Amino acid sequence: MSNPNPQIVVTGHIPESGLERLRAAGEVWNWTADDPIPIDVRDEQLAHADAVVTLLSDRVDEQFLAAAPHIGIVANVAVGYNNIDVEACTARRVRVTNTPGVLTDATADLTLGLLLAVTRRLGEGERLIRSGTPWEWGMFMMLGTGLQGRRLGIVGMGGIGQAVASRARAFGMDVVYHNRSAVDAETEQRLGARLVPLDELLATSDVVSLNCPYSAATHHLLDAAALATMRSSAFLLNTARGPIVDESALVDALRNGTIAGAGLDVFEHEPDVHPGLLGLDNVVLVPHLGSATVETRAAMAELAASNVVAYLSGEPLPTPVN
Ligand code: 8YV
Repeated sequence: MSNPNPQIVVTGHIPESGLERLRAAGEVWNWTADDPIPIDVRDEQLAHADAVVTLLSDRVDEQFLAAAPHIGIVANVAVGYNNIDVEACTARRVRVTNTPGVLTDATADLTLGLLLAVTRRLGEGERLIRSGTPWEWGMFMMLGTGLQGRRLGIVGMGGIGQAVASRARAFGMDVVYHNRSAVDAETEQRLGARLVPLDELLATSDVVSLNCPYSAATHHLLDAAALATMRSSAFLLNTARGPIVDESALVDALRNGTIAGAGLDVFEHEPDVHPGLLGLDNVVLVPHLGSATVETRAAMAELAASNVVAYLSGEPLPTPVN
């Protein structure tokens, strides 16, 4: 492209290795605080930007795009892009990219962390010790649920779902999955995973893990009616997006014993968490840590930067969405 000094706006604080890659391609302005960028500051920068790097906390909608009349690319530092109105971007000939692949292992690891934490009652144990309550070893103290031979139902069998499946196999779990289409036969065989309808998955799984993207089609996929079809001994894990679950229905289900427990990394009205979840012992809550390792966050920033660099030099984008 002909622009000799492209202006690149980075709306949030991202790892240095991503910024370095961007600085080699143009003039970079970046918001460096951990707090979200104020809209007026953002819009002032967007007015003369050619490319923008965004985070999941940015809502890229008509208003955002109107403030950024010259941008040709929105590079989201996330695999999920439900924060971006992709149709509006496409209509304005703005390319959108995300960061698939590089966060697959970290997110699958965290999913297994939540699985172990909720089934082995690690949160409760932590709270007991930190509260200073006297305790001693007991044969029947805080018994959890074993995983071997139990069924894991994975909703969404993309890269992260598959990585969760292979880890669960190592724990001796039986894996079923629900997806828009079957994964290839070799992958199914390697993972020992079988495609089943969603209602069968919910009704027969001991643990249900949500690993699908959030869209209108998956909004409240787990509502009160769906939760009611799960086993009363089952656990729910969500490392995908909060609004896939109707959070108040989940609070009721956890309170009433409709299901046994939940491990949640994401929330319907993030960063707010339903107050009903806070007092429940059978739920493990973590603040959207799926990709939160030093290595993964650097790789995400670098991949977003590579998309911007490719766009600015007229090359094919590594991970395009539109
Ligand atoms: C990130 C995520 O923490 O990639 C995603 O979709 O949810 C997480 O990996 C977050 O999106 C960073 O913006």
